[in-house]
Amino acid sequence: MVSIVYVSNAGSSKRYAEMLAEKTGYPCYAYADSNDAVGTEVIFISWVMAGAVQGISEARVKFGTLKAVVAVGMMKSESQDAAIKEKNDISEAFFSLAGAFDMKKLSGMYKMMMGMMVKMIKAKLKESDDPKAKEVVEKFEEGFDMVSEENLSEILGFLGK
Ligand SMILES: Cc1cc2nc3c(=O)[nH]c(=O)nc-3n(C[C@H](O)[C@H](O)[C@H](O)COP(=O)(O)O)c2cc1C
Repeated sequence: MVSIVYVSNAGSSKRYAEMLAEKTGYPCYAYADSNDAVGTEVIFISWVMAGAVQGISEARVKFGTLKAVVAVGMMKSESQDAAIKEKNDISEAFFSLAGAFDMKKLSGMYKMMMGMMVKMIKAKLKESDDPKAKEVVEKFEEGFDMVSEENLSEILGFLGK
């Protein structure tokens, strides 16, 4: 039996987990409420913070070897995927998905961290006039949502669904 377990801060990993559950028929649990997933093959979906897949170590302890790890981040890029795999010791099947970002949905430390990051990029922008940096700042300030069902096709293929 296969289960989906997710960790989500602002909701995009949860949305992907629920979409995948709907498409596969697998049960879906928030990590905090996932005792019923113990003893099943777990697809672990979680968000990326500073390169770290949140809760992955705890999930490995709780569920043993994971069937797959799905990292939800700012974007999907090959170089970031390689860095995430290395940082999180991922030898499981690995997928990355572009998530969503909205400063208004963040609070506490996360809001502070991202506020600092935007400030840093803005300061750099002043020096360099790099149009790409400007784009990035605008993206952060306005927020973005890249969660979509189509992004699940690779995972569905892996699951034979
Ligand atoms: C403090 C903080 C750090 C982040 N660090 C990264 C990162 O290193 N790489 C990345 O791709 N996304 C990073 N993100 C973006 C989140 O992973 C992205 O917004 C994700 O969709 C959040 O998932 P959630 O909605 O399930 O919480 C960061 C977001 C926050 C708030």
